[in-house]
Amino acid sequence: MQNSSALVLTVAERIDDKGDIMRLTLTGEGPLPEVAAGAHIDLLVETPEGPIWRQYSLAGDPADRTQWQLGILKDPDSRGGSVALHQLVKAGETVHVEGPRNHFPLAQADHTVLFGGGIGVTPMLAMAWELHAKGADFTLHYATRSAERCAFADVLPGLPFADNVVLYHDDAQKLDLDAVMPAPNPTTHVYVCGPQGFMDWVIAHAEASGHATDHVHREYFSADVDASGDSFDVECAQSGLTVTVGPDDTIAKALAREGLKIEVKCEEGICGTCVTDVLEGEIDHRDQFLTEDEREDNDQICACCSRGRGKLVLDI
Ligand code: FES
Repeated sequence: MQNSSALVLTVAERIDDKGDIMRLTLTGEGPLPEVAAGAHIDLLVETPEGPIWRQYSLAGDPADRTQWQLGILKDPDSRGGSVALHQLVKAGETVHVEGPRNHFPLAQADHTVLFGGGIGVTPMLAMAWELHAKGADFTLHYATRSAERCAFADVLPGLPFADNVVLYHDDAQKLDLDAVMPAPNPTTHVYVCGPQGFMDWVIAHAEASGHATDHVHREYFSADVDASGDSFDVECAQSGLTVTVGPDDTIAKALAREGLKIEVKCEEGICGTCVTDVLEGEIDHRDQFLTEDEREDNDQICACCSRGRGKLVLDI
């Protein structure tokens, strides 16, 4: 995992691309922090309701420390961050950024298959850059609803790994997972990013094909998280504080009301900012961030959305 830091970067270029996707090129005064493919940054967004942080994957060549490239989908159904960014961001202005952080790194593999659905192509492009630089064997399958909604279409043919990219459009040549899913193999890894339905489809197909869960890597952009449930108590071992988390409350909010702050960013269980160590108790995981193995360890919780069954003791 890379170190996280606060940065003020300049929007060197804004391109309003197909599919309601805004492409941004961010630059700094000197070399940008090192990144590996799969990394994302947190971008501060000033919404009418106040400042919020949103997470965006880096889409450019990870080896290029002169610029970072983002693709930001304007999603009116999201909680307002992307719509505000589309309205506010202008070339030449500055933005506040934290990161980079990487919860979606490439594993060592003989063969890598990348599936990007819509805006989910962004981390896949960075992965393709990195795999190409290593001379690795890989294919990027990029699916969009139509050619009219296919962002990055203008740059794809000129990329040095253009021959490794296969485009699909739902209204023309649709992605056929039966045809392109690789056979399971200990040295083959599959990566998927995109809308929830796309991800569920690819993940289910990969696992049904026999791929081990830890060889099917996934990055969620947003999640329909249900954080409600029965009340439970949370005891904080270090501070001595105990709170009750009500049916529609979260651990982070309940503790914040008592003055104990756990940092949160996405508040929907996808970024990992709020992960907190658990000393005792049974966790009811609601996030998309922790892996199955981490869940089974029962010693970490995403405090923005996950719950306890009975009492939890946290190491804070
Ligand atoms: S704040 Fe993002 S996972 Fe909890």
